[in-house]
Amino acid sequence: MLAERMSLIGTSPTLAVSGKAKEMIARGVDVVDFSVGEPDFDTPEPIKRAGITAIEDNFTRYTASSGTLDLRRAICEKFRQDNQLSYEPDEIIVSTGAKQCLYNLAMALLETGDEVLLPTPCWVSYEPQISLTGAAPVFLKTDAATGFRITPDALRAAITPKTKALILNNPSNPTGAAYSREQLEPLAEILAEKGIWVIVDEIYEKLVYDGFAFTSFAALSPAWKDRCVLINGVSKTYAMTGWRIGYAAGPREVISAMGKIQSHSTSNANSIAQRAAQAAILGPQEEIARMRAAFEKRRDLMLSRLLEIPGVTCPKPQGAFYLLPDWRAYLGRHCGAWEIQTSIDLAAYFLEEAHVAVVPGVGFRAPEHLRFSYASSPDRIEEGMRRVREAAAKLE
Ligand SMILES: Cc1ncc(COP(=O)(O)O)c(C=O)c1O
Repeated sequence: MLAERMSLIGTSPTLAVSGKAKEMIARGVDVVDFSVGEPDFDTPEPIKRAGITAIEDNFTRYTASSGTLDLRRAICEKFRQDNQLSYEPDEIIVSTGAKQCLYNLAMALLETGDEVLLPTPCWVSYEPQISLTGAAPVFLKTDAATGFRITPDALRAAITPKTKALILNNPSNPTGAAYSREQLEPLAEILAEKGIWVIVDEIYEKLVYDGFAFTSFAALSPAWKDRCVLINGVSKTYAMTGWRIGYAAGPREVISAMGKIQSHSTSNANSIAQRAAQAAILGPQEEIARMRAAFEKRRDLMLSRLLEIPGVTCPKPQGAFYLLPDWRAYLGRHCGAWEIQTSIDLAAYFLEEAHVAVVPGVGFRAPEHLRFSYASSPDRIEEGMRRVREAAAKLE
């Protein structure tokens, strides 16, 4: 009954775990939820006000399909100030989350016969989005030895005449790895030489730690404006995941093609949320600094607790709000009826025996890892990590 293409994709494993955790919470179980992919902070007050005012002003109709001109101008201003990049409003599209930008872009750019380089471990939605277009994902495996970053040699070796694009997530979900300007430059040189498109998901741009200086890929050289599409959004930076506003910047022709697809699917992103996103981008930025500082402390806390667990290893990430510890020392162990063969078994064990939700690495192509999100209060991090340590100690 279903179309053949449905055999190419599965349901998101991250949503599956948080769904199970939510169900347990609804039943009254005290679950410590480290599976979430969103800030636990509330959307800052001035942004909420802008949404309420939009409703009161009856800003409740369809907008231009690619986003209001005001919001696209605000996004151009953000690129100018934060990234020293000069885009015009017709080089910007606003969509229902960065996820929709990525989907529109995949549909606009990729087709059967194309290969798309995807460094792994990677966020769960890139692969299905590539596969749905008929293009083939080509995985570039990274590990803790390089801080989960691809090397110029590995990149060069993976390129074939069919390589159309690379998807780079900087900083990364799930590893938290971030590339500095010095680390991006040699990669950019190879990609430019081979004429490969670069899709750079910079949604965690503002969540970087230890004084890390973020450089947008498109800012490496003016020539990248013609072959690079930047993906960004307000979800993570401004604690606005439910408002569903993401945006992309790139060459006019590509952005316009993405706009065509959007105009025939969702028409436009929510009008009220667009006003709120505009307020977020143009308004005071102090709240971001406060949230960023809180995340940095939580990263340090969770990482130190993880490293206290015998056999667990994890590099210190520079960004986002995830840790991707290696649990291979625990695979093959058991406790009572529990036989832990895979990271899926281990995540199920922690959820059911310790009431701690984490995401198995399988969906990120990191089968021996678990993803721990530190978007929780320090108290909950302490409590959850205590439970994980105790449950891990019972595995023999
Ligand atoms: C790397 C990455 N890109 C994109 C998204 C999607 O964000 P949005 O809420 O804007 O759709 C996420 C959300 O989890 C993400 O982690």
